[in-house]
Amino acid sequence: MASRSLGFLIAILACTCAVSALAARDLTDDLSMVARHEQWMAKYGRVYNDVAEKAQRLEVFKANVAFIELVNAGNDKFSLEANQFADMTVDEFRAAHTGYKPVPANKGRTTQFKYANVSLDALPASMDWRAKGAVTPIKDQGQCGCCWAFSTVASVEGIVKLSTGKLISLSEQELVDCDVDGMDQGCEGGLMDNAFEFIIDNGGLTTEGNYPYTGTDDSCNSNKESNDVASIKGYEDVPSNDETSLLKAVAAQPVSIAVDGGDNLFRFYKGGVLSGACGTELDHGIAAVGYGITSDGTKFWLMKNSWGTSWGEKGFIRMERDIADEEGLCGLAMQPSYPTA
Ligand SMILES: *[C@@H]1O[C@H](CO)[C@@H](O)[C@H](O)[C@H]1NC(C)=O
Repeated sequence: MASRSLGFLIAILACTCAVSALAARDLTDDLSMVARHEQWMAKYGRVYNDVAEKAQRLEVFKANVAFIELVNAGNDKFSLEANQFADMTVDEFRAAHTGYKPVPANKGRTTQFKYANVSLDALPASMDWRAKGAVTPIKDQGQCGCCWAFSTVASVEGIVKLSTGKLISLSEQELVDCDVDGMDQGCEGGLMDNAFEFIIDNGGLTTEGNYPYTGTDDSCNSNKESNDVASIKGYEDVPSNDETSLLKAVAAQPVSIAVDGGDNLFRFYKGGVLSGACGTELDHGIAAVGYGITSDGTKFWLMKNSWGTSWGEKGFIRMERDIADEEGLCGLAMQPSYPTA
């Protein structure tokens, strides 16, 4: 019904205006974008305050769809889609859905790397920590820039499973509310390494169930905070810009990873092995939970994200591994780190 009335509208416009064939096609494209935006709004339950906001969002949506279609037409390794973030500008998106603060220059990376002498020949050709029961279900940070808490918790959940045999979903909200005396600032961003330090000093983390996620900066609930169920002994940084060292670490345990998650390639990822000209402006924390190689020989990292299950491959993303750029795709090799138990 909707599409038929739209077709009628196009016919009227094309008849009453003495337009050239080219302009008529532009008009048709414009109208189909209006319809696509309407469909997209319905799918994601998006409501705007007024006509002006809707018109402005439509322009952003159009630009994002143009980018997505260009990328999809130019490669067959992966695809992008106009997902729930398709009406946001890059700046709005970075502010609301990422939240990693790159390591400041005055804070050195740790030099201990316990997997330094692991033999590459001894590593399995592929690894999937989900299959080993060391990865909890995908979570959703919502409109709060606390990716750093989700990335931290994912690698802590992994090492706790590997050291105790128990997979326990742990609390991001405890980090958001209670880890506030240093660089970590809840929904305003933070760092995985600083969160590891908080967990060590605090004596552990409590469960997701005991201290559930609210997605807002609340005050620290010390009753809940004191109920630690899982602890770590320390943390180490993987040598920067070295995907071989990263492989040794990920073969042994899930690892926290910083990436340029605000890059449109990452933001609109739908499936396949992401590759291409992704940026290295580190603004998002995720977790490496495996690696592998596709049947056509493309090597990839398997990453857990915190943008819900409708994003990417049921909430996960495969990113090309061992690319020519030593910083790794989207900067993934720049600042990886992991907790020790
Ligand atoms: C790796 O091997 C070197 C040389 O034998 C040794 O000095 C170093 O302590 C080892 N590192 C680790 C983390 O085992």
